[in-house]
Amino acid sequence: MKKYKFKIIAGIFLLMTVALFIASCAASKPIADKPGALLWGENCVRCHNAPSPSAFSDTQWEAIGKHMRVRANLTEDEVNKIVEFLSMANQ
Ligand code: HEC
Repeated sequence: MKKYKFKIIAGIFLLMTVALFIASCAASKPIADKPGALLWGENCVRCHNAPSPSAFSDTQWEAIGKHMRVRANLTEDEVNKIVEFLSMANQ
């Protein structure tokens, strides 16, 4: 009887380990998504020349990001990554 109980606990433990492993794979997926620099190069040239990162300040890029997000039909996450890249590259 005792041995049987141990098997159940071991089984649950194994299942939880497998579940955690699968969950950690799913969580790491967005990191593999496109970086801001690539999104900038792909999206911000569709209607005009890609603006140079140094052309605007961080605050200006944030406002521009909000405007161009609507125009370019980007997700909030995508635009945040582009603005983050532009703010890093305009020093
Ligand atoms: C669907 C077309 C379209 C896309 C895609 C687009 N833009 Fe624009 N952009 C425009 C238009 C039209 C204007 C001029 C009118 C305005 O300012 O709203 C403009 C203006 C700008 C300006 C202002 C230029 C100035 O001299 O004041 C900046 C900066 C800019 N875009 C950056 C971007 C960035 C960064 C992206 C990528 C996230 C982007 N745009 C994607 C259409 C687009």
